[in-house]
Amino acid sequence: MGARELMWSRRDLAKAGLLAVGSAVLPEWLWGSQEAGNATDVTGVNSLRAHADARGLLFGAAVVPQLLDVDGLAAGTTTDGYTLLVKNQANILVAENSMKWGALRPSPGVFDFTQADKLMRFASLAGQKVRGHNLCWHEGNPGWLKPTANRDNARALLTEHILTVAGHFRGRLHSWDVVNEAIEPKDGQADGLRKSMWYDLIGPEYLDLAYRTAAIADPDAKLTYNDYGIELDTPDQAKKRELVLALIKRFKERGVPLHAVGVQSHLSADGPQPGAGLVQFVREVGRMGLEVYVTELDVNTRNIKGGNGEQDAAVARVYKDYPALLLEEPNVKALLTWGITDAHTWLNQMKQPWAVRPDGSRQRPLPFDDALQPTPAFFALRGAIEGAKKHD
Ligand code: XIL
Repeated sequence: MGARELMWSRRDLAKAGLLAVGSAVLPEWLWGSQEAGNATDVTGVNSLRAHADARGLLFGAAVVPQLLDVDGLAAGTTTDGYTLLVKNQANILVAENSMKWGALRPSPGVFDFTQADKLMRFASLAGQKVRGHNLCWHEGNPGWLKPTANRDNARALLTEHILTVAGHFRGRLHSWDVVNEAIEPKDGQADGLRKSMWYDLIGPEYLDLAYRTAAIADPDAKLTYNDYGIELDTPDQAKKRELVLALIKRFKERGVPLHAVGVQSHLSADGPQPGAGLVQFVREVGRMGLEVYVTELDVNTRNIKGGNGEQDAAVARVYKDYPALLLEEPNVKALLTWGITDAHTWLNQMKQPWAVRPDGSRQRPLPFDDALQPTPAFFALRGAIEGAKKHD
């Protein structure tokens, strides 16, 4: 019997008239108690992974391969909490940093795939898909790149990198963020393109070059354009969405291979939330034949006053409403959180004002907390996935 048959939710039970007997009579593993605190079993049929599988969805997280006990997983002996969480909760993974230029290219002539390969081995043992992130970005680059790159060698540098890296993982990745964050309205260009290093050295054609090269290097990966600040109905974000759409239309007109759009979704627990503008964007992208992935969901609690309870309540609201808004759309196929525990989130590592809470306490942006226990966000997200339409 597969996971699908084993999947009993409270809603299913209610439909079958079984909940009427009262949850006290039912064994807890059957419905999963959120009141039971640390004793709650969120593995197996109670996991995000099983719920996503049952809806034909991909759910996963950005991970740090250095923290994964791959040998223990292979031997079936691991007791490491982070390792087990990643294995149990996700059916797709992405490397938080290990597939970026900075991680893969210690020096111009050397490619180091140690950590990225560790992640691939983990995913293969755990039966998970992997997204590649990323092949071309203005950040996350090694220190030698800027001083080395110039107008004469930039095209060759970019092409060689993509052929080597996407070639290395050929046939094994679900998708690649080929270009990350290419639109920046504040740079003031009519086409919205960011004045990045690649733009300055190659010109706007760097995007076509990156996608066409990636398609040759790995014809099976879904080639994705990934960006942030396109989620809300604010004028700035609506403008950025428009510019991303225009970029995609230009790709289509020129026959540039593109299969998906990644909506990063670094959201905030306070302030305006995603709404009709994003839904319209997702549908328009769908009409162009593209899939949409939520690629980097987390919920910034910098501005939430109070303690853990206040943070958790605000975060859970977003984890309930945001997936509910998007998972109705048939072309939204995947949702990944940026990290899986508050213990490892970049929001607790960055020292910038947008990350640090004024009272100095830690942020709680993810479905599992510092002690690797599920937070209300976990249950909100699981409920949202459960309530989603079945995807093909
Ligand atoms: C972040 C990582 O989480 C940090 O560890 C690293 O120091 C900087 O990059 N958008 C992206 C991600 O596409 O690659 C970024 O990841 C977060 C913002």
